[in-house]
Amino acid sequence: MGVKSSILSGFYRLSIKERIRKLKEITDLTDEEVKLLQSQGALDFTIADRMIENVVGTMPLPLGLATNFIINGRDYLVPMALEEPSVVAGASKAAQMTRSTGGFTATTTDPVMIGQIQVANLTDPEQGKEALLEHKENLLAVANQQDPILVKVGGGARDLLVRRLETQLGPMLVVHLLVDCRDAMGANAVNTMCEALAPLVEDITGGKVYLRILSNLAVYRLARAEATFPKEALGGANVVKGILHAFAFAEADPFRCATHNKGIMNGVDAVLIATGQDFRAVEAGAHTYAATREGGYQSLTKYEETPDGDLHGTIEMPLAVGLVGGATRTHPVAQLCVKILGIKSARELAEVIVSVGLAQNLAALRALSQEGIQAGHMKLHSRNVAVAAGAVGDEIDLVAKRMIADNRVRFDHAQKILEELRSQH
Ligand code: MEV
Repeated sequence: MGVKSSILSGFYRLSIKERIRKLKEITDLTDEEVKLLQSQGALDFTIADRMIENVVGTMPLPLGLATNFIINGRDYLVPMALEEPSVVAGASKAAQMTRSTGGFTATTTDPVMIGQIQVANLTDPEQGKEALLEHKENLLAVANQQDPILVKVGGGARDLLVRRLETQLGPMLVVHLLVDCRDAMGANAVNTMCEALAPLVEDITGGKVYLRILSNLAVYRLARAEATFPKEALGGANVVKGILHAFAFAEADPFRCATHNKGIMNGVDAVLIATGQDFRAVEAGAHTYAATREGGYQSLTKYEETPDGDLHGTIEMPLAVGLVGGATRTHPVAQLCVKILGIKSARELAEVIVSVGLAQNLAALRALSQEGIQAGHMKLHSRNVAVAAGAVGDEIDLVAKRMIADNRVRFDHAQKILEELRSQH
Protein backbone atom coordinates (compact mmCIF):
# COMPACT_ATOMS: atom_id res chain seq x y z
CA MET A 1 0.00 0.00 0.00
CA GLY A 2 1.74 3.24 1.09
CA VAL A 3 0.12 6.65 0.88
CA LYS A 4 -1.01 8.80 -2.07
CA SER A 5 0.43 11.90 -0.46
CA SER A 6 2.65 12.33 2.59
CA ILE A 7 1.63 15.96 3.05
CA LEU A 8 -0.40 16.10 6.26
CA SER A 9 -0.65 19.78 6.96
CA GLY A 10 -1.49 20.66 10.55
CA PHE A 11 -0.88 17.04 11.64
CA TYR A 12 1.14 18.26 14.61
CA ARG A 13 -1.80 20.30 15.88
CA LEU A 14 -4.12 17.28 16.16
CA SER A 15 -4.55 15.15 19.27
CA ILE A 16 -3.03 11.65 19.18
CA LYS A 17 -6.54 10.22 18.73
CA GLU A 18 -7.23 12.49 15.77
CA ARG A 19 -3.85 11.68 14.21
CA ILE A 20 -4.53 7.95 14.41
CA ARG A 21 -7.96 8.53 12.83
CA LYS A 22 -6.32 10.49 9.99
CA LEU A 23 -3.70 7.75 9.54
CA LYS A 24 -6.46 5.14 9.28
CA GLU A 25 -8.19 7.26 6.65
CA ILE A 26 -5.15 7.42 4.36
CA THR A 27 -3.72 3.94 4.89
CA ASP A 28 -5.45 0.56 5.04
CA LEU A 29 -4.71 -0.14 8.69
CA THR A 30 -7.20 -2.59 10.17
CA ASP A 31 -9.22 -1.91 13.33
CA GLU A 32 -6.92 -4.35 15.13
CA GLU A 33 -3.85 -2.40 14.06
CA VAL A 34 -5.40 0.88 15.12
CA LYS A 35 -6.14 -0.69 18.51
CA LEU A 36 -2.50 -1.73 18.76
CA LEU A 37 -1.33 1.83 18.13
CA GLN A 38 -3.74 3.10 20.75
CA SER A 39 -2.62 0.64 23.41
CA GLN A 40 0.18 1.99 25.51
CA GLY A 41 1.91 -1.36 26.03
CA ALA A 42 1.82 -2.57 22.44
CA LEU A 43 4.47 -5.27 22.97
CA ASP A 44 2.90 -8.26 24.64
CA PHE A 45 4.90 -9.73 27.56
CA THR A 46 4.83 -13.21 26.04
CA ILE A 47 6.48 -11.88 22.85
CA ALA A 48 8.95 -9.76 24.83
CA ASP A 49 9.88 -12.78 26.93
CA ARG A 50 10.79 -14.71 23.79
CA MET A 51 12.90 -11.87 22.39
CA ILE A 52 15.52 -11.48 25.16
CA GLU A 53 16.42 -12.99 28.52
CA ASN A 54 15.35 -12.07 32.08
CA VAL A 55 12.47 -9.88 30.88
CA VAL A 56 10.81 -7.79 33.58
CA GLY A 57 8.91 -5.31 31.39
CA THR A 58 9.00 -3.33 28.14
CA MET A 59 10.39 0.11 27.41
CA PRO A 60 8.13 2.10 25.09
CA LEU A 61 9.31 5.11 23.08
CA PRO A 62 7.26 7.79 21.33
CA LEU A 63 6.45 6.81 17.74
CA GLY A 64 6.01 9.76 15.36
CA LEU A 65 5.35 10.07 11.63
CA ALA A 66 7.61 12.19 9.44
CA THR A 67 5.60 13.75 6.65
CA ASN A 68 6.28 15.17 3.16
CA PHE A 69 8.76 12.54 1.95
CA ILE A 70 8.96 11.82 -1.77
CA ILE A 71 11.54 9.13 -2.50
CA ASN A 72 12.10 7.86 -6.02
CA GLY A 73 8.85 9.50 -7.07
CA ARG A 74 6.74 7.89 -4.33
CA ASP A 75 5.22 9.47 -1.23
CA TYR A 76 6.10 7.91 2.13
CA LEU A 77 4.92 8.54 5.65
CA VAL A 78 7.94 7.60 7.73
CA PRO A 79 7.54 6.13 11.23
CA MET A 80 10.24 7.26 13.66
CA ALA A 81 10.71 5.98 17.22
CA LEU A 82 12.88 8.10 19.51
CA GLU A 83 12.88 10.22 22.63
CA GLU A 84 14.42 13.42 21.23
CA PRO A 85 12.30 16.48 20.36
CA SER A 86 12.63 18.30 17.00
CA VAL A 87 13.86 15.27 15.05
CA VAL A 88 10.53 14.31 13.43
CA ALA A 89 9.72 17.97 12.76
CA GLY A 90 13.21 18.55 11.28
CA ALA A 91 12.98 15.58 8.90
CA SER A 92 9.46 16.56 7.79
CA LYS A 93 10.52 20.15 7.16
CA ALA A 94 13.58 19.16 5.13
CA ALA A 95 11.48 16.69 3.10
CA GLN A 96 9.00 19.46 2.38
CA MET A 97 11.79 21.74 1.14
CA THR A 98 12.79 19.31 -1.59
CA ARG A 99 9.31 18.39 -2.85
CA SER A 100 9.34 21.03 -5.59
CA THR A 101 12.50 19.49 -7.06
CA GLY A 102 11.09 15.96 -6.93
CA GLY A 103 12.24 14.86 -3.48
CA PHE A 104 14.96 12.29 -2.89
CA THR A 105 16.53 9.96 -5.40
CA ALA A 106 17.89 6.93 -3.61
CA THR A 107 19.70 3.78 -4.69
CA THR A 108 21.18 0.70 -3.07
CA THR A 109 23.78 -1.83 -4.10
CA ASP A 110 23.08 -5.57 -3.89
CA PRO A 111 22.55 -6.61 -0.24
CA VAL A 112 25.95 -8.28 0.13
CA MET A 113 27.33 -8.79 3.64
CA ILE A 114 30.81 -9.90 4.72
CA GLY A 115 31.39 -12.85 7.03
CA GLN A 116 34.83 -13.05 8.60
CA ILE A 117 36.75 -16.19 9.52
CA GLN A 118 39.93 -15.55 11.50
CA VAL A 119 42.78 -18.05 10.96
CA ALA A 120 45.85 -18.01 13.25
CA ASN A 121 48.83 -20.26 14.08
CA LEU A 122 49.86 -20.53 10.43
CA THR A 123 53.30 -21.80 9.58
CA ASP A 124 53.07 -20.38 6.07
CA PRO A 125 50.30 -17.74 5.74
CA GLU A 126 50.95 -17.14 2.03
CA GLN A 127 50.58 -20.79 1.23
CA GLY A 128 47.44 -20.93 3.39
CA LYS A 129 45.99 -18.07 1.40
CA GLU A 130 46.70 -19.77 -1.91
CA ALA A 131 45.22 -23.04 -0.71
CA LEU A 132 42.03 -21.30 0.43
CA LEU A 133 41.63 -19.61 -2.93
CA GLU A 134 42.17 -22.95 -4.69
CA HIS A 135 39.28 -24.39 -2.66
CA LYS A 136 37.05 -21.37 -3.19
CA GLU A 137 34.33 -23.08 -5.24
CA ASN A 138 33.97 -25.90 -2.75
CA LEU A 139 33.89 -23.49 0.20
CA LEU A 140 31.16 -21.43 -1.50
CA ALA A 141 29.18 -24.60 -2.20
CA VAL A 142 29.38 -25.68 1.45
CA ALA A 143 28.35 -22.18 2.55
CA ASN A 144 25.30 -22.32 0.28
CA GLN A 145 24.29 -25.75 1.58
CA GLN A 146 23.65 -24.03 4.94
CA ASP A 147 20.84 -21.86 3.62
CA PRO A 148 18.90 -23.41 0.73
CA ILE A 149 16.01 -20.96 1.22
CA LEU A 150 18.28 -17.95 0.75
CA VAL A 151 19.71 -19.57 -2.38
CA LYS A 152 16.19 -20.30 -3.65
CA VAL A 153 15.19 -16.63 -3.39
CA GLY A 154 18.27 -15.58 -5.37
CA GLY A 155 20.76 -14.93 -2.57
CA GLY A 156 23.64 -16.92 -1.13
CA ALA A 157 27.43 -16.95 -0.90
CA ARG A 158 28.86 -15.12 -3.90
CA ASP A 159 32.59 -14.83 -3.42
CA LEU A 160 35.45 -15.49 -1.06
CA LEU A 161 38.47 -13.27 -0.50
CA VAL A 162 41.47 -13.83 1.76
CA ARG A 163 43.34 -11.03 3.53
CA ARG A 164 46.60 -11.25 5.42
CA LEU A 165 46.76 -9.27 8.67
CA GLU A 166 49.83 -8.40 10.71
CA THR A 167 48.75 -8.49 14.36
CA GLN A 168 50.40 -8.26 17.77
CA LEU A 169 50.15 -12.07 17.91
CA GLY A 170 51.79 -12.53 14.54
CA PRO A 171 50.40 -12.88 11.00
CA MET A 172 46.85 -14.10 10.55
CA LEU A 173 44.58 -14.75 7.60
CA VAL A 174 41.04 -13.45 7.44
CA VAL A 175 38.62 -15.07 5.07
CA HIS A 176 35.90 -12.74 3.79
CA LEU A 177 32.83 -14.64 2.71
CA LEU A 178 30.58 -12.38 0.62
CA VAL A 179 26.92 -13.30 0.97
CA ASP A 180 23.96 -11.79 -0.84
CA CYS A 181 21.34 -11.67 1.92
CA ARG A 182 18.39 -10.48 -0.20
CA ASP A 183 15.63 -9.32 2.19
CA ALA A 184 17.37 -10.47 5.37
CA MET A 185 19.73 -8.36 7.44
CA GLY A 186 21.85 -11.47 7.19
CA ALA A 187 23.62 -11.88 10.52
CA ASN A 188 22.15 -15.33 11.15
CA ALA A 189 22.71 -16.63 7.63
CA VAL A 190 26.27 -15.32 7.44
CA ASN A 191 27.29 -16.50 10.92
CA THR A 192 25.91 -19.98 10.24
CA MET A 193 27.88 -20.18 6.99
CA CYS A 194 31.10 -18.99 8.64
CA GLU A 195 30.77 -21.50 11.46
CA ALA A 196 30.15 -24.30 8.96
CA LEU A 197 33.23 -23.38 6.93
CA ALA A 198 35.58 -23.16 9.93
CA PRO A 199 36.63 -26.86 10.12
CA LEU A 200 37.27 -26.90 6.35
CA VAL A 201 39.33 -23.72 6.60
CA GLU A 202 41.41 -25.33 9.36
CA ASP A 203 41.95 -28.47 7.24
CA ILE A 204 42.92 -26.46 4.18
CA THR A 205 45.33 -24.10 5.96
CA GLY A 206 46.58 -26.20 8.88
CA GLY A 207 45.85 -23.14 11.04
CA LYS A 208 43.53 -22.54 13.98
CA VAL A 209 40.20 -20.74 13.44
CA TYR A 210 39.07 -18.43 16.22
CA LEU A 211 36.31 -15.95 15.30
CA ARG A 212 33.57 -16.64 12.75
CA ILE A 213 31.30 -13.63 12.55
CA LEU A 214 29.66 -11.07 10.29
CA SER A 215 31.35 -7.68 9.82
CA ASN A 216 29.25 -4.59 10.41
CA LEU A 217 31.47 -2.62 8.05
CA ALA A 218 29.11 -3.55 5.21
CA VAL A 219 31.02 -1.83 2.41
CA TYR A 220 29.25 -3.82 -0.29
CA ARG A 221 25.78 -3.03 1.03
CA LEU A 222 25.61 0.69 0.46
CA ALA A 223 22.67 3.07 0.33
CA ARG A 224 22.84 6.45 -1.36
CA ALA A 225 20.46 9.37 -1.70
CA GLU A 226 20.55 12.82 -3.19
CA ALA A 227 18.23 15.82 -3.27
CA THR A 228 18.21 19.45 -4.35
CA PHE A 229 16.96 22.03 -1.87
CA PRO A 230 15.99 25.27 -3.64
CA LYS A 231 17.47 28.35 -2.02
CA GLU A 232 14.02 29.97 -1.71
CA ALA A 233 12.72 26.95 0.23
CA LEU A 234 15.78 27.03 2.49
CA GLY A 235 15.33 30.73 3.25
CA GLY A 236 17.70 32.39 0.80
CA ALA A 237 21.27 32.40 -0.47
CA ASN A 238 22.57 33.11 3.04
CA VAL A 239 21.15 29.85 4.30
CA VAL A 240 22.84 27.95 1.47
CA LYS A 241 26.09 29.64 2.45
CA GLY A 242 25.57 28.78 6.12
CA ILE A 243 25.00 25.09 5.35
CA LEU A 244 28.09 24.96 3.11
CA HIS A 245 30.11 26.44 5.96
CA ALA A 246 28.70 23.86 8.38
CA PHE A 247 29.68 21.11 5.94
CA ALA A 248 33.20 22.50 5.50
CA PHE A 249 33.56 22.59 9.29
CA ALA A 250 32.56 18.90 9.58
CA GLU A 251 34.94 17.83 6.82
CA ALA A 252 37.83 19.65 8.50
CA ASP A 253 37.28 18.66 12.13
CA PRO A 254 36.49 15.23 13.63
CA PHE A 255 35.13 16.87 16.81
CA ARG A 256 32.44 18.57 14.75
CA CYS A 257 32.08 15.67 12.33
CA ALA A 258 31.10 13.23 15.12
CA THR A 259 28.15 15.49 16.00
CA HIS A 260 27.33 16.12 12.33
CA ASN A 261 27.12 12.36 11.70
CA LYS A 262 25.21 11.91 14.97
CA GLY A 263 22.56 14.21 13.54
CA ILE A 264 22.28 11.93 10.50
CA MET A 265 21.91 8.94 12.79
CA ASN A 266 19.11 10.69 14.72
CA GLY A 267 16.94 10.12 11.67
CA VAL A 268 18.44 6.81 10.58
CA ASP A 269 18.20 5.17 14.02
CA ALA A 270 14.65 6.39 14.63
CA VAL A 271 13.40 4.59 11.49
CA LEU A 272 15.56 1.56 12.26
CA ILE A 273 14.04 1.29 15.73
CA ALA A 274 10.49 1.85 14.46
CA THR A 275 10.92 -0.99 11.97
CA GLY A 276 12.66 -3.37 14.41
CA GLN A 277 16.14 -3.27 12.89
CA ASP A 278 19.54 -3.80 14.53
CA PHE A 279 20.39 -0.12 14.91
CA ARG A 280 23.70 -0.86 16.69
CA ALA A 281 24.88 -2.72 13.60
CA VAL A 282 24.07 0.23 11.34
CA GLU A 283 25.64 2.71 13.81
CA ALA A 284 28.87 0.67 13.93
CA GLY A 285 28.98 0.40 10.15
CA ALA A 286 28.21 4.07 9.56
CA HIS A 287 30.91 5.46 11.82
CA THR A 288 33.55 2.96 10.72
CA TYR A 289 32.70 3.76 7.09
CA ALA A 290 33.09 7.46 7.86
CA ALA A 291 36.42 6.76 9.59
CA THR A 292 37.94 4.63 6.86
CA ARG A 293 37.42 7.12 4.05
CA GLU A 294 40.32 8.99 2.54
CA GLY A 295 41.33 11.94 4.71
CA GLY A 296 40.26 10.45 8.04
CA TYR A 297 36.85 10.59 9.73
CA GLN A 298 34.50 12.22 7.21
CA SER A 299 30.93 13.36 6.87
CA LEU A 300 28.49 10.77 5.49
CA THR A 301 26.79 13.62 3.62
CA LYS A 302 28.23 16.05 1.06
CA TYR A 303 26.86 19.40 -0.08
CA GLU A 304 27.51 21.70 -3.01
CA GLU A 305 25.93 24.76 -4.51
CA THR A 306 24.27 24.21 -7.89
CA PRO A 307 24.84 26.68 -10.77
CA ASP A 308 21.42 28.16 -9.86
CA GLY A 309 22.50 28.83 -6.29
CA ASP A 310 20.44 25.97 -4.80
CA LEU A 311 21.86 23.35 -2.47
CA HIS A 312 22.53 19.80 -3.63
CA GLY A 313 23.03 17.19 -0.93
CA THR A 314 24.18 13.57 -1.16
CA ILE A 315 24.63 10.80 1.37
CA GLU A 316 26.32 7.41 1.21
CA MET A 317 26.54 4.85 3.99
CA PRO A 318 26.41 1.10 4.62
CA LEU A 319 22.87 0.12 5.55
CA ALA A 320 22.19 -3.48 6.52
CA VAL A 321 18.46 -3.85 7.10
CA GLY A 322 16.08 -6.73 6.68
CA LEU A 323 12.41 -7.47 6.36
CA VAL A 324 12.55 -11.18 7.15
CA GLY A 325 13.52 -12.50 10.56
CA GLY A 326 14.42 -10.55 13.66
CA ALA A 327 12.28 -8.06 15.53
CA THR A 328 10.81 -6.77 12.28
CA ARG A 329 8.79 -9.99 12.19
CA THR A 330 8.14 -10.49 15.89
CA HIS A 331 7.41 -6.97 17.11
CA PRO A 332 3.82 -6.06 16.22
CA VAL A 333 4.53 -2.32 16.10
CA ALA A 334 7.52 -2.87 13.80
CA GLN A 335 5.22 -4.78 11.45
CA LEU A 336 2.75 -1.96 11.59
CA CYS A 337 5.48 0.55 10.73
CA VAL A 338 6.54 -1.54 7.74
CA LYS A 339 2.92 -1.50 6.63
CA ILE A 340 2.62 2.29 7.05
CA LEU A 341 5.77 2.67 4.93
CA GLY A 342 4.27 0.36 2.35
CA ILE A 343 7.70 -1.02 1.46
CA LYS A 344 8.18 -4.28 -0.38
CA SER A 345 11.88 -5.04 0.06
CA ALA A 346 14.84 -4.48 2.38
CA ARG A 347 16.46 -2.38 -0.34
CA GLU A 348 13.44 -0.08 -0.49
CA LEU A 349 13.58 0.26 3.31
CA ALA A 350 17.28 1.21 3.10
CA GLU A 351 16.44 3.79 0.41
CA VAL A 352 13.87 5.39 2.69
CA ILE A 353 16.21 5.35 5.69
CA VAL A 354 19.18 6.89 3.87
CA SER A 355 16.91 9.66 2.56
CA VAL A 356 15.75 10.39 6.10
CA GLY A 357 19.43 10.59 7.13
CA LEU A 358 20.08 13.26 4.51
CA ALA A 359 16.90 15.16 5.44
CA GLN A 360 17.81 15.07 9.13
CA ASN A 361 21.30 16.38 8.49
CA LEU A 362 20.03 19.17 6.25
CA ALA A 363 17.50 20.21 8.89
CA ALA A 364 20.15 20.27 11.63
CA LEU A 365 22.70 22.22 9.56
CA ARG A 366 20.06 24.73 8.50
CA ALA A 367 18.95 25.35 12.08
CA LEU A 368 22.49 25.38 13.48
CA SER A 369 23.82 27.83 10.90
CA GLN A 370 20.82 30.16 11.37
CA GLU A 371 18.76 30.55 14.53
CA GLY A 372 20.37 27.65 16.44
CA ILE A 373 18.55 24.54 17.59
CA GLN A 374 17.42 25.76 20.97
CA ALA A 375 14.57 27.82 19.52
CA GLY A 376 12.89 24.68 18.13
CA HIS A 377 13.59 22.69 21.30
CA MET A 378 12.26 25.50 23.43
CA LYS A 379 8.99 25.67 21.49
CA LEU A 380 8.27 22.06 22.31
CA HIS A 381 9.70 22.25 25.80
CA SER A 382 7.60 25.32 26.58
CA ARG A 383 4.42 23.43 25.69
CA ASN A 384 5.44 20.64 28.06
CA VAL A 385 6.15 23.15 30.82
CA ALA A 386 2.77 24.81 30.19
CA VAL A 387 0.98 21.45 30.51
CA ALA A 388 2.95 20.62 33.66
CA ALA A 389 1.83 23.95 35.13
CA GLY A 390 -1.81 22.98 34.52
CA ALA A 391 -2.60 24.62 31.16
CA VAL A 392 -5.29 22.88 29.10
CA GLY A 393 -6.70 23.35 25.59
CA ASP A 394 -5.96 26.77 24.07
CA GLU A 395 -4.15 27.81 27.24
CA ILE A 396 -1.22 25.56 26.32
CA ASP A 397 -0.16 27.55 23.25
CA LEU A 398 -0.91 30.89 24.91
CA VAL A 399 1.24 30.10 27.95
CA ALA A 400 4.01 28.56 25.81
CA LYS A 401 4.17 31.57 23.49
CA ARG A 402 4.28 34.05 26.38
CA MET A 403 7.12 32.14 28.08
CA ILE A 404 9.16 32.22 24.85
CA ALA A 405 8.43 35.91 24.30
CA ASP A 406 9.51 36.61 27.89
CA ASN A 407 12.58 34.40 27.37
CA ARG A 408 11.67 32.56 30.58
CA VAL A 409 10.59 28.96 29.97
CA ARG A 410 10.08 27.92 33.58
CA PHE A 411 7.44 26.16 35.61
CA ASP A 412 6.90 29.09 38.03
CA HIS A 413 6.57 31.53 35.13
CA ALA A 414 4.06 29.25 33.40
CA GLN A 415 1.98 29.18 36.58
CA LYS A 416 2.07 32.95 36.83
CA ILE A 417 0.97 33.44 33.19
CA LEU A 418 -1.77 30.86 33.65
CA GLU A 419 -3.08 32.65 36.74
CA GLU A 420 -3.11 35.95 34.84
CA LEU A 421 -4.90 34.38 31.86
CA ARG A 422 -7.56 32.80 34.02
CA SER A 423 -8.15 35.94 36.05
CA GLN A 424 -8.67 37.89 32.79
CA HIS A 425 -11.42 35.48 31.74
C1 MEV B 1 21.36 16.72 18.18
O1 MEV B 1 20.79 15.49 18.56
C2 MEV B 1 21.89 16.61 16.77
C3 MEV B 1 22.70 17.83 16.30
O2 MEV B 1 23.70 18.14 17.25
C4 MEV B 1 23.30 17.46 14.98
C5 MEV B 1 24.34 18.45 14.48
O3 MEV B 1 24.97 19.15 15.31
O4 MEV B 1 24.55 18.49 13.26
C6 MEV B 1 21.81 19.05 16.19
